[in-house]
Amino acid sequence: MTNNTLFNGSIDFTIGVAELGQLPAPDMPEIAFAGRSNVGKSSLINALTGRKALARTSHTPGRTQQLNYFNVKDLFYLVDMPGYGYAKVSKSQKASWDRLIKDYLRGRPSLRAVLLLIDSRHGLKEIDQTLMKMLDEAAVSYRVVFTKTDKVKSQELSSRREKTLATLKKHAAAFPGIIETSSHKSRGLDELQEIIATLVA
Ligand code: GTP
Ligand code: MG
Repeated sequence: MTNNTLFNGSIDFTIGVAELGQLPAPDMPEIAFAGRSNVGKSSLINALTGRKALARTSHTPGRTQQLNYFNVKDLFYLVDMPGYGYAKVSKSQKASWDRLIKDYLRGRPSLRAVLLLIDSRHGLKEIDQTLMKMLDEAAVSYRVVFTKTDKVKSQELSSRREKTLATLKKHAAAFPGIIETSSHKSRGLDELQEIIATLVA
């Protein structure tokens, strides 16, 4: 359970966007959840909003195929993104997702920040760093969120944390801190809610 009342009550799916022309008017701030396929983006949106199946999740990578907009009390949007780096989709499908993700992240005026989800078992991969570089160049601020911390021992987590923090220091648009979460064990959710509330205020 979480304490932030902002996330209780009316939160609804608004639209799934497959191409940029379908984006809703940029009239509310939005926070995007980005990261590799299967990292736990949709699960984290469900955990934050206390809703089991607001965003659709799956064991199989490639579940989320559009930019899914969730309207939080007519105050802001949470945007669940398709994952990147999933090898088992066709080349043309991959290319069209990559284009959608990049064009959206670079060109959305109402995007306040990107939450970049990183599986705490794996740390930053090359493909994450490619996205980080793109965000640095586009001056879009982002924060790293570790997911699935229930799956790693605390010693492993702390070495991964140190290594990741060192890398973040080299990235201009990265916030120099990490939010550590587990959707399954409800860890880090209060902290993340507070941060989102500040970002959209
Ligand atoms: P795509 O939409 O395919 O990019 O994936 P996604 O990033 O939205 O991941 P999703 O939320 O669908 O979760 C992928 C898998 O990870 C599911 O089997 C989840 O149950 C599992 N998972 C998500 N969060 C956690 C967590 O905190 N702990 C553990 N152990 N598993 C998790
Ligand atoms: Mg998803």
